[in-house]
Amino acid sequence: MGNHLVTGGCGFVGRHLINKIIKDGDSAWVVDDLSTGKHPDLWLKDGFDKVDTSGLVSVYRRDSQSITFINADALPVFLTETSATRPSPDLENVKLPDFDIVFHLASIVGGRMMIDGDPLKVGIDLGIDAAMFLWASRPDRKSRIGRIMYASSSAAYPVHLQSEGTHIALEEKFISFDENLGMPDMTYGWSKLTGEFLSRMAHERYGMHVGCIRPFSGYGEDQDLTYPTPAIARRIALRENPVEVWGTGDQGRDFIHIDDCVDAMYVILDNVKNGEGINVGTGRLTSFNEMIQTYAKIAGYEPTIKRLLDKPVGVQSRFAIVDKIKGWGWEPKISLEEGLTRVLRYQEQALADAAAKG
Ligand SMILES: NC(=O)c1ccc[n+]([C@@H]2O[C@H](COP(=O)([O-])OP(=O)(O)OC[C@H]3O[C@@H](n4cnc5c(N)ncnc54)[C@H](O)[C@@H]3O)[C@@H](O)[C@H]2O)c1
Repeated sequence: MGNHLVTGGCGFVGRHLINKIIKDGDSAWVVDDLSTGKHPDLWLKDGFDKVDTSGLVSVYRRDSQSITFINADALPVFLTETSATRPSPDLENVKLPDFDIVFHLASIVGGRMMIDGDPLKVGIDLGIDAAMFLWASRPDRKSRIGRIMYASSSAAYPVHLQSEGTHIALEEKFISFDENLGMPDMTYGWSKLTGEFLSRMAHERYGMHVGCIRPFSGYGEDQDLTYPTPAIARRIALRENPVEVWGTGDQGRDFIHIDDCVDAMYVILDNVKNGEGINVGTGRLTSFNEMIQTYAKIAGYEPTIKRLLDKPVGVQSRFAIVDKIKGWGWEPKISLEEGLTRVLRYQEQALADAAAKG
C-alpha cells in the first residue's frame, strides 16, 4: 500500500487523483491552502471519516487507508522543512513522512482571465515549484521520496507555434533545453517551463526519478465555472440563445477528460525518470464554436452564437501530438462527445438542484 503526497490535492485535478489513489488502496497527504480548492469535508466521501483535527491538520480514515489534509500554503511548508525559513508557529508540528510518489499540482492556475489579467499573481508558481524541488532534493529527504510527478502544461510551448495561420500540432521536441527556447504563454507558461527545467536538474544533478505531464485542455464534470468547458455547458443548460463565446470562437484546443490525464500520470512515471515533459491530449483540435454546437446538439436545440470580442482568448490553436504516450499503451478512454455529455448533464443537474432549493 503506497503513501503519496499531493500538493494542490483539493483542486480539480487533485480531487480526481485522490479518487484514483483511494481506488488503488493507497493513502495520501494533501497540502492545499484552499485558495481555489475545496475542503475535503465537501468531497471526500466513500466511507472516509474524519478521525482527528489538530491545528492545520485533519486526518480522514477508512479501514487501513488515510487521507491527511494540511490546510496550508505549500511554499512555507516546504521552506520550513528545509530550514530555509523560520517556522511559523502553525507549521511547527507539521512533519511530512516518507512518500512513494510526490504529485506536485499546487499552483495558481485560473482561467484566461487570471493568466492574462494578473500575471504577477500567477508568477508565484515559480516560487512554489522552486520550494518543492529544494525540499525534495535535500539529502535528508531525497531517499525518502520514490518518484515525483510534476504537473507542467501545454502552456509551456512557444506561443509562436500556436498563432492563427501558422499553428502546428505540438510535439514534445518543440521544447528543448539544449537548443533555443521560444516564448511560453505568460508567467503561467514560464513557471511550467521553469518547472520542467527544475525537473531535469532534479534528475541530472540529484539522481531523482521525475516525470512531467503536459496536459492540454483538461476538463471534467466538476471543473470550476471560470473554465470554458463547464461555463459553456452552463449556458447551454440554461438554453441560452444566443450563446456567448469569448472572441470569435474559432480558437481551438485539445480537450482531454481529467480522468484520462490522471491515468496518464502513472504511465508517464513508469516510462520517464529524467524529468522529460510528455503531452497528454487527444490530438484533436476542437474550436469553441464546435464545442457549442456539440453541446447544443446533445441538448436538442439550435442557438446562434454571439461573439464577445473584448474578452481574452489566449493563443489561436493549441493541440498535441500524442504518439509518445500512446506508444506506452495509454489511450484516452473518454471521447469528447461522451465527456461533453457528462459535463452538460452535470450542469443541468446543478441547475435543477438549485431550483429545488429555491
Ligand atoms: N486542468 C487542466 O486542464 C490543467 C492543464 C495543464 C496543467 N494543469 C496543472 O495541473 C495542476 C492542477 O490544476 P487544476 O486544474 O486542478 O487547478 P486548480 O486551481 O483546480 O487546483 C490547484 C490547487 O492548488 C491549490 N493551491 C494554489 N496555490 C497553493 C499553494 N501555494 N499552496 C497549496 N495549495 C495551493 C489550490 O487551492 C487548488 O486546490 C496545476 O499545476 C496546473 O497547472 C492543469
